[in-house]
Amino acid sequence: LIAVDTVYLNGEYLPRSEARVPVDDRGFLFADGVYEVTPAYGGRFFRLRRHLDRLKAGLCALRIDYDGAGVEELHHRLVELNGLGKEEVCTVYLQVTRGVAPRTHHFPPQPVTPTVYAFARAFRRPPRERWEQGFSAISHPDRRWARCDLKTVGLLPNVLAQQAAVEAGVQDAILVKDGMALEGAHNNLFAVFGETVATHPASNQILNGITREYVLELARGMGYRVEERPVPVEQLRFASELFFTGTTTEVRPTVEVDGWKIGDGKVGPVTRAIHHAFLDGVRQETRGQEREAAAYG
Ligand SMILES: Cc1ncc(COP(=O)(O)O)c(C=O)c1O
Repeated sequence: LIAVDTVYLNGEYLPRSEARVPVDDRGFLFADGVYEVTPAYGGRFFRLRRHLDRLKAGLCALRIDYDGAGVEELHHRLVELNGLGKEEVCTVYLQVTRGVAPRTHHFPPQPVTPTVYAFARAFRRPPRERWEQGFSAISHPDRRWARCDLKTVGLLPNVLAQQAAVEAGVQDAILVKDGMALEGAHNNLFAVFGETVATHPASNQILNGITREYVLELARGMGYRVEERPVPVEQLRFASELFFTGTTTEVRPTVEVDGWKIGDGKVGPVTRAIHHAFLDGVRQETRGQEREAAAYG
């Protein structure tokens, strides 16, 4: 029998409806925490190590003392317990907050145990026909703080930008600061100019996506010229293609921004080739993992 919607909270697996966090959790009071979302293809994680390294870097920057013991195991267990091993794609969300303490801005003077919460869920890709039509985006002011490289749970500006996209009837928001198109509200932005693929450098102004890194590897390997540079928002109109990347975005073509057609308004050949390479590469890399496990098992 498969238990449905089992979550992980502080060392325990329990039904979501029974999971409780105290009201003085600093995640609730201050958004004092970090998170990760890691995909599994056919139940096998894609670059889990990379996701956990990014989490560790975030914890270190925020000085949250979490040793990460058993964190890989809990990813596998959640997929298993929720019967998601056969899903084409599912994701595991993991959040670590500083913990529970009487409210003060500064860290609790006595060390506290971090709160660790995780859940798994299936991820539904848009149908192929929908992908083929291409997607739309709006530009939106980037109102975030100066450490966007940290994946903190403080996502209010991202939430408001994504809501603006929803209200405009489009799928994505392009965050713009000082005239530069930085990234999406929950994904990274790539602009294609002929055979050149450009994306914002991995600075403090964006979250360096694991998908972004992978797509850069793929694009270089495919022989495209790759430029990691700030892209002025007014250059987007002259791009031949645009696409977003992310764990729950994969590779998503954008054919219209603020009502302007990008290129000929159709999904372009570079996006198509990279998307193809991405799906292929992810399948291969996750399958390879299985062989490795079998070899040692
Ligand atoms: C602001 C932002 N940029 C980019 C990404 C993409 O990162 P990844 O490819 O690791 O999912 C995310 C993912 O949630 C994000 O929130």
